[in-house]
Amino acid sequence: MSSVLVLYHSQEYGNTGAMAEAVAEGARSVGANVTLINTNARRITTDDYRAFDAVAFGTPDYFSYFAGTLKVFLDDWYIGKKTNAARLSNKPYALFLSHGGGGRAQRPFEDLFKQMGTKVGNTVVSAGRPTSPILEACRALGKQLAQAVR
Ligand SMILES: Cc1cc2nc3c(=O)[nH]c(=O)nc-3n(C[C@H](O)[C@H](O)[C@H](O)COP(=O)(O)O)c2cc1C
Repeated sequence: MSSVLVLYHSQEYGNTGAMAEAVAEGARSVGANVTLINTNARRITTDDYRAFDAVAFGTPDYFSYFAGTLKVFLDDWYIGKKTNAARLSNKPYALFLSHGGGGRAQRPFEDLFKQMGTKVGNTVVSAGRPTSPILEACRALGKQLAQAVR
């Protein structure tokens, strides 16, 4: 069974959290074992990160950038890779983003997370509270991500 991590920041309204749940649902629908971590609630260690086969990253747009707690993850990951690179790169990954009407975080989010491995699908981008079609797109993305694990 593949193990999928859904690593996201959600804080203001739970918008990104709702998208994360839908991504998880999609991955579970094809048999993946899914772990959801809100980086606003806890910091994941680089060693914990190694265990997963595929990852979905989700963030709100904060000042046209991705959330600080995901930046902390990326910093930890980069530093951790210097001492032990095992199972830190080359994972299939997917992205989802929630914004309040601007959405300019998409470019830095996609650019920085390119380092994580092979991107699966397109970034799901949502304005405000996620609609049913957005949640459906998140489910489809989660499914596609889990199926990308070889
Ligand atoms: C500190 C802060 C900065 C924000 N900056 C932006 C922004 O630059 N552009 C934008 O479109 N929305 C911005 N927003 C709105 C959030 O991206 C939006 O409400 C999002 O859906 C919140 O996700 P959450 O409910 O999962 O926390 C900002 C919100 C906060 C709290």
